[in-house]
This record gives sequence, C-alpha cells and structure tokens, in this order.
Amino acid sequence: MFYKKSLDQLLNESKNEGGLKRTLTANNLISLGIGAIIGAGIFTLTGTAAALHTGPAVVLSFILAAVACAFAGLCYSEFASMIPIAGSAYTYAYATLGEFVAWIIGWDLIIEYLFASSTVAVSWSGYVVSFLKDFGIQIPASIAQAPYDYDSATGAFTPTGAIINFPAIFIIGIITTLLVIGISESAKFNNVIVVLKVAVILLFIAFGVSHINTANLTPFIPEAKGPGEFGFDGIVRGAGIIFFAYIGFDAVSTAAQEALNPQKDMPRGILGSLAICTVIYILVGIVMTGMVHYPELNVPDPIAVAVNAGGSDLFWLRFPIKIGAIAGLSSVILVMLLGQPRIFYSMSHDGLLPNFFSIIHPKFKTPYITTIITGILAMILAGFGPINLLGELVSIGTLLAFVIVCGGILVLRYTNPELPRPFKTPFFPVVPILGILVCLYLMAGLPWHTWERLIIWLVIGIIVYFGYSRRHSKVGKSLRGPLAEH
Ligand code: ALA
Repeated sequence: MFYKKSLDQLLNESKNEGGLKRTLTANNLISLGIGAIIGAGIFTLTGTAAALHTGPAVVLSFILAAVACAFAGLCYSEFASMIPIAGSAYTYAYATLGEFVAWIIGWDLIIEYLFASSTVAVSWSGYVVSFLKDFGIQIPASIAQAPYDYDSATGAFTPTGAIINFPAIFIIGIITTLLVIGISESAKFNNVIVVLKVAVILLFIAFGVSHINTANLTPFIPEAKGPGEFGFDGIVRGAGIIFFAYIGFDAVSTAAQEALNPQKDMPRGILGSLAICTVIYILVGIVMTGMVHYPELNVPDPIAVAVNAGGSDLFWLRFPIKIGAIAGLSSVILVMLLGQPRIFYSMSHDGLLPNFFSIIHPKFKTPYITTIITGILAMILAGFGPINLLGELVSIGTLLAFVIVCGGILVLRYTNPELPRPFKTPFFPVVPILGILVCLYLMAGLPWHTWERLIIWLVIGIIVYFGYSRRHSKVGKSLRGPLAEH
C-alpha cells in the first residue's frame, strides 16, 4: 500500500517511453493552459452560480476560487518542475505518498476529466442550440436537454419533459472518433482556438461594459435565503461551483514531457495561464451581472443572454460570441477526453488496472480501448446528467486532487529535502498548508449530496484497489520478489 516509485525509476520510464519530442515553449504552455481552462465554467456556470447562489457577488466567488487555485498551482509547479514527466498528480503521488494514495488520486481524476468532458459537452449543446435557433433551425427541447433538472440546494430532481441531450452526445462521439484515429491536439490548432475564444471574451467585456446598468449590481450581495443561497454562505458555495472554471491549469503539467525547458517553463505555463484567466473571469463576472439582472442568468448560454440584453447595438456580437464559445468548448472537451485515457493508461501500465486498458491500436497508435470506454461513459453522463450536478462533482473531485498535491509537497520537503527543486513553492510551509485548508473549505461549501457521491465513488475505488490493483501492482510485485506472487 505504501510502495513508492523512486524518482530515478520515473525519470527512466519517461525516457524509454513514447519518445515524446520536447517542442513546447513557455508561451505554448500558457496557451495550452488557457485552452483547457476557458470553457463551460465561464460560458455557462457563471450564470448558474450568479442566479442561484451569489448574485453580482459572483466576482467574489471568482476571487476566492482563484486563491485556492493559486496555492494549488504553486504546488503543482514545484512538482512539475521536479518530476517533469507525464501523468500529473497520479505520478506525483506515486513518488511521494505511496501507491494507495496514487490510486485514490488516479481514481479521483476520473471524476475530474470524465465528468468535466460531459459537463462541457452539455454547455456546448446549449450554445449550439441557441446558435442554430438564430438561423431558424429549431432543435426540439425534448432532445437537447437532460431528462431531469437538479436543485443543488435540496438535492431534488425534477423532470424537464426532455428525453436526452442529443447534441452533447453528438459532440463527444465526434471528438472520441477523432481521438481514436489519432488527431491529437497540436499546439498550433490549440493556439488558433485560444486566440478565438479569448478574442470573443475580450469583445464581450469591451462592448458590454457600456451597457452595464448599475441597478443590476445592487444589492451586490443579495440577502441570504438558505444554506448556500446568497449572502456570505452563497459566495462560498458559488466559489465551490465556479472553481470548475479554473480547472485545466493542472493539465499543463501533463505536457511536462513535451516542454523544451520544463524546469522553468512549467511554473510559467501553470501560473501564467491561471493569472490571465483570473483577470478575464473577474471582468466577465462584473459585465455579465451588470448587463442582466442575475435571476435571469440560469440558462445554458448566459453570455449570449447578456449580449441580447444589450439590444440592437450588440446584435452583431451574438454570432462571434457563439462561434467562439462553441469552438472554445470543443477544445476543452478534446483536452479532457485526451487526458482521461492517458491516466487509465498510466494506471494500467503500473499494473493497477488490467492490461487491456493499455492496448494501443496497431494502426492509429492510440490507446483506443480506453478512449472508446471513456467516450461511451462521457456520452451517457452528458446525455442524461443535469449540468450543475456534473459540475459540482467535478469541482469536489478536483479539489480533493489539489488537497493531495499540496499534501505531497509538504511531505516531500521533509522526506526528501535533498532533491533538486528548480521551482520552489514560496513561503513554505504556509502555501501548501493554506492550499489544503482553502480547498477543504471550498469542498465544505458544496452540498452534502455531492459529498455523498464523492464518498461512494471513493469507496468503489478502494474496493477495486484491494480486490485487484494491490495484487497486480508491478512496483509491488518487484518489491515482494517473484516468489511472493505464488
Ligand atoms: N475549466 C474548464 C471549463 O470551464 C474545465 O470548461
């Protein structure tokens, strides 16, 4: 359970495998981060959080969530510069906290990547339906929505009258197919999408600002109505939800093996993309809740609703916004659906999951089995899951991963103080400790039902670990020696 992979072992594995080319510069990494970060969080969940939990104070939720991410981002940077190989938090945990914690984090990352791809697909569906409607093409609501709405305050499900969210299933199907035949995201393609989505958001901020009606911004913090609904409690709950919008900076660390100068550029990529997105989000939060009275923002496409509120003046902005959102959301889905099979692959390679998880397609050279399994699961979740339920699960799962990463930095400084650390988390041990506390605080702000789901998921993971993974672990087998296997 406490077997660890040595750093030498990890670095050797990274040399033998894949032969990935080191081509990414610091700017490419920042762009990769922004590509993975800006998505459903800002294009959809900001509206949900403002309408149901925070009102205009969604800006404060953005700041609170950014603080948690900054602490975690610093810890990720230390790890990524020290262990510059693929695998992210799962690999870091295997080297520092032992196999069991690595397993838990790998299992937990499934919630992050798999559920995030579904959440973003639901948001994509909202923007596509609204885009087509502008051209007179009406997709019936019965096939463009989950069958149930979810009220996160009460945990109640109410039927929407719809059957399935078909566009969400469709986009996952297309991207999964692309990933199977091996069109991986190239840095250039990603750069184009990033420029496009950042440009439309900047247009929104620049032209929306003159349409702010200050009456919409008062009261800035609406009076509390119940637990997690407005008031201070609502801001914390909002931060737990809006935290989703920042997820993705950690994906930069998965590209460590392809970075030209990982020691310096990993921290730049992680912290740079996080800083840029924080500024953008705060501005969008102010403009959006300033243009539209917050109760009207509980829709899949709140930025489009805000643009509509700007009247004929802003009519021209509708199309660029929707096209930017649709393209931007597609790239986030791609990164998430690309990341998940890689994690399954690493876990299977270490013996913690069965061998067939790491089978590579003979012609396309992609981990096609895990890509297809991931795609099918993501389609089911996206087709039937309400967006806020999915989003909250992603938030709680990722926050847990961040807690473990911050914990790993703490442990490693004491157990292996001699290791070279090209980037050191400043103000040690304050930053990792605060990172753990702020992430736990945001987790505590999420509803109990979300906790229940996380706990059930982890219990299943623990059963799989003791039922299968522990006995099949390659590190474990090599340490126990060949005789111990019989
Ligand atoms: N941060 C990503 C998004 O908002 C996951 O879509």
